[in-house]
Amino acid sequence: MKSWLWRQTILLGGVWHLAHALQQFPENSSQKGLVLTHASSNLKFSPDWKVLGPFRLGTREAVWGADPVEYLGGITNITYNEDDFYHSPLAADAHVKWESRAYNPENSGKGASIDLSLHYPDIDWQFARQIYGWAALQFQAWIVGELLWSGDSSQTAVLYTDNVLELWVGDNHIFGGDFYSFRRAPILIHLRPGVNVVKVRMLGDIRSMGGQSPPSLQARLETNLAYDVLAVDSPGVIIPDVIKGRFTSLYGSITVRNQAEKWVKIDHIATSRDFGRSILSDGVIWLAPGQSRPLKVVLDLEVGLDKSINFRLSYTPEDSLSLQIDFATTLNHAIITDSHKVTFLHPSGVVSYAILRPPRYHLTSEISETLPVLVALHGAGVEADSPLVKTAFDAIPDLPGWILSPSGMSTWSGDDWHTWGFADVEAAITMIPDWIKNIKWTGPGVCLHRVLVAGHSNGGQGTWFFSTHRPDRVLAAAAASGYTSIENYVPFTLWQEADPWQTAVVQTARGNYRHELLVENLIGIPILQQHGSIDDNVPAYHSRLMNALLVGVGQPANYSELRDRGHWFEGVMTTQSMRDFYSLFLKCGISQKQTPRQFSFIVPNSHDMGSRYGIFVDQLSTPDRMGKVHALVSETESGVQWRLKTTNIQRLRLERVSGLNLAADEVILDNMLLPFELKHEKGSALFVKRDADTWTRELRPNWQHLEQRSGRQRGTLDAILRSSGPFQLIYGSPEILPIALQASRNLHQYYGADSNILSWPDYRKVVDKGESNVITFVQGMISLPTRIPHFPINLQDGRVTLTACNGRIISIPFTQGLGGVWLRPLPDERLELVVWGADTIGLKHAARLVPTITGVGQPDFVILEASARWKGHGGAIAMGLFDYGWRISPGSYLP
Ligand SMILES: *[C@@H]1O[C@H](CO)[C@@H](O)[C@H](O)[C@H]1NC(C)=O
Ligand SMILES: *[C@@H]1O[C@H](CO)[C@@H](O)[C@H](O)[C@H]1NC(C)=O
Ligand SMILES: *[C@@H]1O[C@H](CO)[C@@H](O)[C@H](O)[C@H]1NC(C)=O
Repeated sequence: MKSWLWRQTILLGGVWHLAHALQQFPENSSQKGLVLTHASSNLKFSPDWKVLGPFRLGTREAVWGADPVEYLGGITNITYNEDDFYHSPLAADAHVKWESRAYNPENSGKGASIDLSLHYPDIDWQFARQIYGWAALQFQAWIVGELLWSGDSSQTAVLYTDNVLELWVGDNHIFGGDFYSFRRAPILIHLRPGVNVVKVRMLGDIRSMGGQSPPSLQARLETNLAYDVLAVDSPGVIIPDVIKGRFTSLYGSITVRNQAEKWVKIDHIATSRDFGRSILSDGVIWLAPGQSRPLKVVLDLEVGLDKSINFRLSYTPEDSLSLQIDFATTLNHAIITDSHKVTFLHPSGVVSYAILRPPRYHLTSEISETLPVLVALHGAGVEADSPLVKTAFDAIPDLPGWILSPSGMSTWSGDDWHTWGFADVEAAITMIPDWIKNIKWTGPGVCLHRVLVAGHSNGGQGTWFFSTHRPDRVLAAAAASGYTSIENYVPFTLWQEADPWQTAVVQTARGNYRHELLVENLIGIPILQQHGSIDDNVPAYHSRLMNALLVGVGQPANYSELRDRGHWFEGVMTTQSMRDFYSLFLKCGISQKQTPRQFSFIVPNSHDMGSRYGIFVDQLSTPDRMGKVHALVSETESGVQWRLKTTNIQRLRLERVSGLNLAADEVILDNMLLPFELKHEKGSALFVKRDADTWTRELRPNWQHLEQRSGRQRGTLDAILRSSGPFQLIYGSPEILPIALQASRNLHQYYGADSNILSWPDYRKVVDKGESNVITFVQGMISLPTRIPHFPINLQDGRVTLTACNGRIISIPFTQGLGGVWLRPLPDERLELVVWGADTIGLKHAARLVPTITGVGQPDFVILEASARWKGHGGAIAMGLFDYGWRISPGSYLP
């Protein structure tokens, strides 16, 4: 028995666990094997669940709270009683009652699972939809059942929570869940013998669940017992494909999960090539109890023709002896001219991957030249490493270019190809030269400066994001079945009531992602739009709207509406019009850019913005609205003159753009002539507004310092995602650790990000230096060291004080359930996000605003009172943005 277990290799997806040779508890391993099958069958979900709903819900609103049951003290403060009624605007007589529902729990021997689906046939959804549209089909409800553990002692289990954002297991309140079923970072739960009550908040989301009427909410819970101290799951292993015995890149990543109740230190990872040499790239790594972290490894390029690669990982639980696990991963051998997987580093330091198809051009032609890149952005829920993506361009095998399909670090491309996902796209593009070197490629080279961007669905939306934000980097853009913005997709009409100003702040925070407001940035970029006329997922209205808006700014775009076609069909990216478009515009040769005689540049508050004909905006005067530059270009006797009229711009620069004709020799900024010679300016000339209306040249090379918000710090709260290393999560006291752990899990689940959890004594160390952004979780009266004088939000004498831009001081006394989040500057363009609560409830509520799903609209700071748990953003006491000098902006909502 024992030797059987020791030798047996178990296939877990693509990862082989070599039976834990030298396992954690070798002397008991055979016994453990027996317990495992036996014990997991002692885990069962109940078939009978109690449901309370439906209640209304706004699109992406649940992050703010907006749970009507919280008015009564929350789901943990109410119990099932079939006579009680609860107010709801969705139901007859304005109330709903508890109901019983039966489900079919399963137990496969490996663990227990249950599919929970919920619909309310008595509600006239169709009528509500006629009035409020798709938004009316999104509702929320609580569903309460039991998980029975018939073991005789407490037991740790792994819980997967597909489509769930919020739930309770016993006393453990979990926010973040796994709303899109990534299954990257399951939750560790601690079961008591007997009944463990499970309460799941069911939430409708058309974008992930579809828009069928009548609506039906779906969720799945899956749990199995956790025995091993450290777990490695197969989807958590990322390694590049192999071509002719060589890895296509150096980086691999292995996600490990600490299932023990103590901290675990990772000591060493090696491959069977040399078990003595660690390939771990980042020294010593600690995992908090329950934490999942992706470990970065540096591979030997020469791997040979083996079918799999064996890893050995050594680790040490706190106060214990060192242990190790062996596992293996199958290698994927690819042919060089086929689509294959290449890894690289995301700017945050974690390993990402993209699918690359090198040009086959050289096989049919002798030309050795450089070819451009077609960046193809996938739709929501689509895995980049899948046949769907890999074969999307098979119909055009001889396309003269590189085809790059980034992952965006999740099937939802991180944050819909925005701040996090777009950083992944840019890193993927710059990976190609490394690939050329690693693989010793002798075919055509690559021109990277400008790319053709294309995408489908969410990727079509990403195409708009890319081309409106980085117009100078785009050769041409092809958007298929793309949507314009989240709020145009499923309107935000049913959010909880709030002061219009509060709603304005939230809308302002989403402004960067409203592509329909940025169409002027597209003038000059060749565009093809394509949409199926009967698309019932992303209505053709989105493409028709963009087409009409483009005409409105003087840039007619070619629009191909395909009769009787739906959202997706095979060959959607290789229709005749798409092919014609690629062959017209996929050319490095179009490097000579024609400067139009006049153009505009709309600049939302974000570091995602690149330049437009060399104009780069460093700072807006106020973040409350977008900036705008309008340029008139003329040739005078003294050379080329650019006359720029600015609105809401504080600081801009002109950069030299290679191949741009009619580059400026002099610039007239808001009627002030400012001579400069770009060729003497190291590539850029800087201008700053000294007071309300006077522009001057900025000659100080070190204008960027702690008191000037600049670079990666720009944007709204999402700017925290621009970390150049693993997030550093600091918890102020031991009881706060579970909240930091939750944030770490969510950052990994939703973004594939890594985070390092540290306790308070390490605070100074991580804020003063390093490359990473810091998220600080603190509670009660705590003094946070001031970094810049007059920073406008402080904790003082049991109060939160805010200094408005006119000097008015607002003082909010600590009350039960008060919480807040706010950004603070750190050196080197880094940021700190303070997550604070007057008490644990306030802190937990504030922690929901650490980025997870998109469309939430977090501004730079939010102070929430207890009522936000049911009133959502309407329960914010103060919320708003910081300007370029870290002052509270005039448009902020203050008491
Ligand atoms: C192995 O099992 C025996 C009997 O159940 C137990 O007494 C002992 O503590 C176990 N050892 C370990 C290391 O778990
Ligand atoms: C819990 O419910 C009871 C009534 O059932 C109520 O008196 C109490 O205030 C509620 N607790 C909270 C925290 O709201
Ligand atoms: C639009 O279509 C016309 C006719 O097919 C073609 O001549 C033109 O080059 C196209 N323009 C773009 C930007 O695709």
